[in-house]
Amino acid sequence: MEEEVLTVATDRALPQMEVVLSAEQIRRRVYELAHEINRDFMDETPVVIGMLKGSFIFVADLCRAVAIPHHIDFMAVAAYGAGTAAMGAPRLLKDLTVNITGRSVLIVEDIVDTGATLSHIRRLLLARQPRRLASVALLDKRAHGDPELPIEYVGFKIDGGFVVGYGLDLAERYRHLPYIGRLNPTQTEENDTRV
Ligand code: PRP
Repeated sequence: MEEEVLTVATDRALPQMEVVLSAEQIRRRVYELAHEINRDFMDETPVVIGMLKGSFIFVADLCRAVAIPHHIDFMAVAAYGAGTAAMGAPRLLKDLTVNITGRSVLIVEDIVDTGATLSHIRRLLLARQPRRLASVALLDKRAHGDPELPIEYVGFKIDGGFVVGYGLDLAERYRHLPYIGRLNPTQTEENDTRV
């Protein structure tokens, strides 16, 4: 009975959307990424930096899948407002609480779209002279790689469209979904005018 009530409540809040990556596909890929990270950072204790807010679920799953010792910190940068269009240079909303000079650092991003946010963060962190700086992105939306923006670990390459879930939002909605779904243009346009 309780389960039924919960299902009804969830369905009411959610529009129809195409599931691009199921919770199971994500879970498996997170473990594969963790395996690569274990191998590459075997003798190190990296600072794992989750980029808020979008990466909060990914970083929580990834750090539990990784076996090597590591420290966790967070930064917050805003690339988008409430809508779906990029709006100028990323703004730093929250900085690290640890010193990364001489440390190995792994940036954790949920999605790289234009690459502006990750480029900005990399520049900012490189200026603090870490011993090593690498990045992991669950989703890479770019059509082509960019030698100026290395991403050492990529979960999935995805095509266009606006994706939500597993931390990713549209105007703060849908972050809680355990899967990644694609909204259609009508759904995202409605949001642009409703906020
Ligand atoms: C999203 C996402 C990345 C960035 C990617 O963050 O989490 O940080 O955009 O876009 P880019 O490659 O075009 O720069 P957003 O600003 O939406 O904030 P959020 O993480 O709080 O959702």
